[in-house]
Amino acid sequence: MKVIVCKNYDEMSATAAGELSKQICEKPDSVLGLATGSTPEGMYACLVKDYQDGKLDFSKITTVNLDEYYPITPDNDQSYRYFMNYHLFSKVNINLANTNVPDGTAKDPDAFCADYEKLIDSLGGVDLQILGIGQNGHIGFNEPGDILYPNTHLTDLTDSTIKANARFFDSIDDVPKQALTMGIASIFKAKRIIIMASGKSKHDAIAKMLGETIETKCPATILKLHPNVTLICDEDAYNG
Ligand code: GLP
Repeated sequence: MKVIVCKNYDEMSATAAGELSKQICEKPDSVLGLATGSTPEGMYACLVKDYQDGKLDFSKITTVNLDEYYPITPDNDQSYRYFMNYHLFSKVNINLANTNVPDGTAKDPDAFCADYEKLIDSLGGVDLQILGIGQNGHIGFNEPGDILYPNTHLTDLTDSTIKANARFFDSIDDVPKQALTMGIASIFKAKRIIIMASGKSKHDAIAKMLGETIETKCPATILKLHPNVTLICDEDAYNG
């Protein structure tokens, strides 16, 4: 795994945005795998700025997002669809029809997940996948446990994730208890992966991920098996 340690959050954001910009310029019809959470917000702001400065064209880009709460409606300001529209899609010239976020209103989540997996395959896989990391080492919403699931699936959130994400909701009771998420094999279909981390709260998960073992109780450790992964993090996440 390649590791890039940046001074702070802003440098991490600009570095990750630089990699995405390069991907978009080199292959204007790229399939981008996108993530939500507070970590990539600054990266999206850099991409919007590059677009406004006339450096980027999203017209041929397709996006596939990692995960979404379940159940949740797209107009809920905590849904990941809302996040993506707000931080990126509404601010650049992407065709909204080419943006894909798991559907938090799906009536039959299992059928939806099977279709999402087919969608990823039909796009020829993701060219560049952005990931964040949970404090407990989750990627997407692949939570620590005895087993990991390969494909897109409906999952229960752990108490620690519900607690960590409660800061975005009015109260902890409002945090959905389940989510739709790409599985490990879905994520591994990406040709290249960038995982981002900022802040001391991510240090333990990052240290484990960079350690020698692969453990289902820290799902990010499995990224060691992918041939093209770059960690872009700040000093706090790296040093603790
Ligand atoms: C969330 C998301 C992940 C995200 C992670 C970290 O629950 N499901 O995709 O990477 O947790 O979030 P944050 O960047 O806000 O710390």
